[in-house]
Amino acid sequence: MTVYFNGAFMPIEEAKVPVLDRGFIFGDGVYEVIPVYSRRAFRMAEHLKRLQHSLDGIKLPNPHSESEWTDILDQLIQRNAPEDQYLYLHITRGVAKRDHAFPNPPVPPTVFVLSNPLTTPPAELLQSGVACITVADNRWLRCDIKAISLLPNVLLRQAAVEAGCAEAILIRDDAFLTEGAASNIFVVKNGTLLAPPKDNLMLPGITYDVILELAATNGIPYQVRRVTKAEVFSADELLLTSSTREVLAITTLDGKPVGNGKPGAMFAKLHPLYQNFKRDVMRQAPSPSGGGPGWGNTR
Ligand code: PDD
Repeated sequence: MTVYFNGAFMPIEEAKVPVLDRGFIFGDGVYEVIPVYSRRAFRMAEHLKRLQHSLDGIKLPNPHSESEWTDILDQLIQRNAPEDQYLYLHITRGVAKRDHAFPNPPVPPTVFVLSNPLTTPPAELLQSGVACITVADNRWLRCDIKAISLLPNVLLRQAAVEAGCAEAILIRDDAFLTEGAASNIFVVKNGTLLAPPKDNLMLPGITYDVILELAATNGIPYQVRRVTKAEVFSADELLLTSSTREVLAITTLDGKPVGNGKPGAMFAKLHPLYQNFKRDVMRQAPSPSGGGPGWGNTR
C-alpha cells in the first residue's frame, strides 16, 4: 500500500509521525474522505472545497493549491491497486513543543493521504436496511469542520456498535435531528424528503448534496429545514448517507421498525438514481479524476 506523506509517495510502513505532532497531541487537524470509483475521484472539487472550509475553520493555511491536490490524489490512485478506493486526507498543524496556542512562528503542516479499498454496501444490506439507535448529540458547536478530533463521534458510533447497530442518530438538545456519528440522515414523511440544514451543527455532506440534487432533478419533493425528534420517530422512512456507505435505508430505530420495517419507496427511487448518477459522471470524466465540465460540478 502506497501513501503520500509530506511531499513523497512511500510504502505505508515508512510513513512515521513524530510524537510531538499536534495531531497526535491535540487532535489539531482536519481530514477528508473521497470515494474513488473505477480509479476516478468522485466530486473531487467539492471535497477540496470542503477541505478548504475545514482548514479555514481551524486557521491552518492550505498546504497545496487545488491543482497540486488533484495531482497528488491522481498519482496516489494510480499507485494503488483497487479500482474502487477511498482516499483519506489528513492535515495537522505540524510538529512543535507542546503548547495549546499555535506554534509561533508557524511550523510546516503534516500532510498524509491514504488510499484504502472501497467496499460499498453489499446487496443484503441494501435489501434489509440497517438498525440505528438515537443518542444525544453532545459534540461541540463547529460540527461543520471535518476535524480529526473525533472522540465524541467515536464514542457515539461505539454506543451504536455495542447496541448491535450500524449507526447512532444524533438528537441535539433533546429536540431536533443533526446527523449520524459519521453520516447524514434524511427523514421521509408522506413522500417528502426532509433534510436538516447545513449549519454549524452538522458536516455538510457531499453525498447529502448529491441526494438533494437528485431529488430536485427528478421531481422528488424535499424540504431543507430543522427536523424534530418527533418527526424522526414518526418517519415513514429514514435514510443514511456517506461517501463510504452511499445511501442506505434505516429500517429499525431504537429496536422498533421504521415504517413497515423494510426499505421504502423513497429508498427504492434514490438508490438507483445515485448509482446511475455515479456511472453518468464517470462516463463524462475528461481525465482520470479531472475537474472539467460534468466532473464534480453540481448538476
Ligand atoms: N464521514 N457527517 C459526519 C459526522 C461524517 O463523518 C460524514 C462522513 C458525513 C457524510 O459526509 P460525506 O457524504 O461527505 O461522506 C456526515 C466519513 C465517511 C468518515 O469520517 O469516514
